[in-house]
Amino acid sequence: MIDRINRLLAEVEQLHAINAEELENLRLKYLSKKGLLSQLMADFRNVPADQKREVGMLANKVKDALTERFNFLKNELATTEEDHSGLDLTRTPYPVHLGTRHPLSIVKQEIVDIFARMGFSLADGPEVEDDWHVFGSMNFADDHPARDMQDTFFIESHPDVLLRTHTSSVQSRVMENAQPPIRVICPGRVYRNEAISARAHCFFHQVEGLYVDRDVSFTDLKQVLLTFAREMFGPDTRIRLRPSYFPFTEPSAEMDISCNICGGEGCAFCKHTGWVEILGCGMVDPNVLEANGIDPNIYKGYAFGMGIERITNLKYQVKDLRMFSENDVRFLEEFMAAN
Ligand code: PHE
Repeated sequence: MIDRINRLLAEVEQLHAINAEELENLRLKYLSKKGLLSQLMADFRNVPADQKREVGMLANKVKDALTERFNFLKNELATTEEDHSGLDLTRTPYPVHLGTRHPLSIVKQEIVDIFARMGFSLADGPEVEDDWHVFGSMNFADDHPARDMQDTFFIESHPDVLLRTHTSSVQSRVMENAQPPIRVICPGRVYRNEAISARAHCFFHQVEGLYVDRDVSFTDLKQVLLTFAREMFGPDTRIRLRPSYFPFTEPSAEMDISCNICGGEGCAFCKHTGWVEILGCGMVDPNVLEANGIDPNIYKGYAFGMGIERITNLKYQVKDLRMFSENDVRFLEEFMAAN
């Protein structure tokens, strides 16, 4: 009998339960009415009188040890369960939901890649700018309408500080810090004071390019833009340049590509002209070179600028500009395959 009790005592320390079911099994085996402890107590009757005292004390000890161990395991289980509250550890980790790149980022990267292959490097600059880099150094007359509050967001307390309206300000910063040859593209967000609608927003994104060196000609510009258009919209794409005006380029042009939706046949998208406008460009005005510390008698340059939203619309026919900034996951997920 004493051996039996000692064996049981040794077992008690080894008892474990990792869940409620195992704990219940332990209770049934040791502490229930038909459990080992009850059997032990029942057999106590047969213990000879002279051993009753010693065996009784041991039996009580095993009873206490068992109850204590059982309560300990019960507590332990309760706290571990508490620690994992809210976590379903049995849940499978798949499918993992990956985000998608924003369509404007996808297209921006494509534009940047195309020009990088032609030797252009990236340049960056601040979105909050001063009048000089956005307008002054870009040959805008003092009374140019773009300087009007209607078109530009000014910082009220600092009339010289504004949100850049084009990334030409980055070109200005590049020129004031380096001498030719300069070959950069400047992607970035720009701001204009427009009422928000499906066709206009108070901010959008541009990529502008600048090339300054000796003997740069309009032909160089045209070839680079043709290469860009064909890389971006396919090898059959044609371009045409229409005379235009910008304060910072002379001569200036706007470039159309053959409508990439109907291939130039004429459709609702190109208003049945077969052409869609994609960018502005021109030879850098000598005044701009001079204002930015580059000698216009030695160097010439060309520049171009396009809206990323516009290019994205042409590639993906997004009808409403506002979609780009609403971050509706259903819209963004449509670009999963383009990532
Ligand atoms: N800065 C012009 C704009 O924002 C784009 C442009 C850049 C045009 C360079 C010509 C040359 O509209």
